[in-house]
Amino acid sequence: MQTEHMMRSKTVLFLLTASVLIPGWIGPGLRAGAAPKPALKDVFKGSFLIGAAVSQRVFTGEDSHAAALVQAQFDTISPENALKWQSVHPKPDAYNFALADQYVDFGERNHMTVIGHNLVWHYQTPDWVFQDSTGGPASRDVLLERMREHIHTVVGRYKGRIKGWDVVNEALNADGTLRQSPWFKIIGEDYLAKAFEFAHEADPGAELYYNDYSLEGDAKRRGAIRLIKALKSQGISITGIGLQGHSTLDQPTLAQEDATISDFAKLGIKVMITELDIDVLPGATEHRGADIHTKIELSDKLNPFKIGLPEPVQIELAQRYAALFRVFLKHRDVITRVTFWGVTDRDSWLNNWPVQGRTNYPLLFDRSYRPKLAFDSVIQAAE
Ligand code: GLA
Repeated sequence: MQTEHMMRSKTVLFLLTASVLIPGWIGPGLRAGAAPKPALKDVFKGSFLIGAAVSQRVFTGEDSHAAALVQAQFDTISPENALKWQSVHPKPDAYNFALADQYVDFGERNHMTVIGHNLVWHYQTPDWVFQDSTGGPASRDVLLERMREHIHTVVGRYKGRIKGWDVVNEALNADGTLRQSPWFKIIGEDYLAKAFEFAHEADPGAELYYNDYSLEGDAKRRGAIRLIKALKSQGISITGIGLQGHSTLDQPTLAQEDATISDFAKLGIKVMITELDIDVLPGATEHRGADIHTKIELSDKLNPFKIGLPEPVQIELAQRYAALFRVFLKHRDVITRVTFWGVTDRDSWLNNWPVQGRTNYPLLFDRSYRPKLAFDSVIQAAE
């Protein structure tokens, strides 16, 4: 009996042979170099904006192929890292806007909706932000003033140019309670309201979002609903919720996705899918334990598609993408934007998280910038 691995290897061999024998053939229904028509941004026009998170290599043009792909396919961009606190404000008295300015210019040159990500987060924020001069925790007043000054400086700089901001990122635990982040511990629960207030003061015209992952889970979703209701009842201006959308081939379920979008729509806010990707690799945490000898074998198990994605998985990914997009389209009245976290599989953060150095296939474009089967299926979902 053939093992699954042998069958997959045979499929890969078949695909590789076919692509050598048939010039330009790169997979079912696709031809290398053939411009994908129509573009994602065209097929979803009238439903929602369609975007990608861009790295410095993309918006500086260093990766000209990726830049061209973004120009051709997307009508909104998010900054992968360029606007995070550690990038723009590395030291108390030092801002560095060189990259962020190039990011915003790239979006404007290409007539795109430019998104800001993010203002208040517990991660990729330098330690000094939370410390006093002795290295101990800063006081509530000091931290609030730092937050106000940072938000006013960053949001104010791009006033009228950045359409919307992820004001607070990932404030919730899986059980729906507030994460014990330094922001929460030092300022208290009202740090969220304050962040939104400061952002609104800095650019009253900007859309303001709360952004988080796994909001499809019941408890976390309930926590987010409580949070948004509380903010709204205090008169805080919150425009939308960002469902990050980091997904796997079976999680979240379509029913969960559907219910989550409906639940947030009921609050009268816009819903955005802000960091969409689909991890096709085995869950790393299922393979914990064992001794050093099994480690090599386990790392191979955790990285099974080093030489290419077998066709059955390619098809599964395409079907999963199509199914998710059908849910998004069903809610086109409340969904204003769907953004992928990255452009091609080559640059996805999922090659290095939660395990470093794997070969993952989470996006619509392959490592050679070519549209995958998943690209076709997303286009078809729209037609
Ligand atoms: C989170 C953040 C993003 C990014 C991704 C992984 O979802 O919101 O900025 O860091 O993790 O790259």
